[in-house]
Amino acid sequence: MEIYENILETLGNTPLVKLGRFHSGPATLAAKVEFFNPGGSVKDRIGIAMIEAGEKAGLLKPGGTIVEPTSGNTGVGLAMAANLKGYKLVCAAPDKIPKEKIALLEAMGATVLTCPTNVGADDPRSYYKVAERIRDEQGAYLPYQYYNQANPEAHYHSTGPEIWRQTAGKVTHWVAGVGTGGTISGAGKYLKEQNPAVQVIGVDTVGSVYKYYFEHRELPPAEQIHQYLIDGIGEDFMPATVWWDYLDGIVTIDDNTAYKATMDLARHESIFTGSSGGAAASGARQVAQSLGADGLVVTLFPDSGERYLSKLNRTWLKEKGLLDD
Ligand SMILES: Cc1ncc(COP(=O)(O)O)c(C=O)c1O
Repeated sequence: MEIYENILETLGNTPLVKLGRFHSGPATLAAKVEFFNPGGSVKDRIGIAMIEAGEKAGLLKPGGTIVEPTSGNTGVGLAMAANLKGYKLVCAAPDKIPKEKIALLEAMGATVLTCPTNVGADDPRSYYKVAERIRDEQGAYLPYQYYNQANPEAHYHSTGPEIWRQTAGKVTHWVAGVGTGGTISGAGKYLKEQNPAVQVIGVDTVGSVYKYYFEHRELPPAEQIHQYLIDGIGEDFMPATVWWDYLDGIVTIDDNTAYKATMDLARHESIFTGSSGGAAASGARQVAQSLGADGLVVTLFPDSGERYLSKLNRTWLKEKGLLDD
């Protein structure tokens, strides 16, 4: 019989798909399509991993509560594992979170607390501080994906080995978006351990801190940090989950390039990914364009564009000047 014990057993082993229409050149460009995961995103990999790390550290007791400041994919990943293991989940989310995302988290059994966006991260009303207060007052477990080493480690143990196996060890470049940095770092460490010549390149947004940090080893001046429209990558602070020792470079992608690539991927490759997938594909294509026939560039699409239909539609794209005639 081929029956899974539970849905999380279907986690990982996502398909690696060639992008032969998006990129035509001597080098090969391929993407791991993470919306094949059971909760629909790459974050399913770290949801279960961070919960098991909490159990091991004795921070999570049977029937206990998990609280995370998140507005999306990580919440779904945590909710799946929490349900199957009998934990309660509270997500502290910024109040700009779309209704669909609240509905998704609530459908998965999470309690969603919306917190004001227009206050600093250190304000007690911010979603970070609300999560910390619930941890302190209720003895809840706070996985904190930006600081939890189980996040990059999950990619070291799953995403990295999958890429190595799926490319038969022929991968030459690993190019992925940097949000918490977990994906690029964990898989990057694994791939470099197999072959130190593999180049590991992060994709950042214009307005975020990573490119500047890579070049200067310090945060950029405040005036260089600003908002952007790409979802899920780039940050305005430095998390503890970027393993800089394994990164060889960072490319930055602007909103226009990312959204255009997102729509091109849907129309030409029939892969509808979120804007962070469009950004990753754009960065990976830049890398692939400089390579010969031996180049094998692997990138990753974190989730599906269906999660962002309130943005990935003609009206919104036109309003933001992102619609390509
Ligand atoms: C949609 C989306 N894309 C990309 C990323 C980046 O992945 P990582 O956090 O592993 O760097 C995230 C993470 O927050 C995300 O939610």
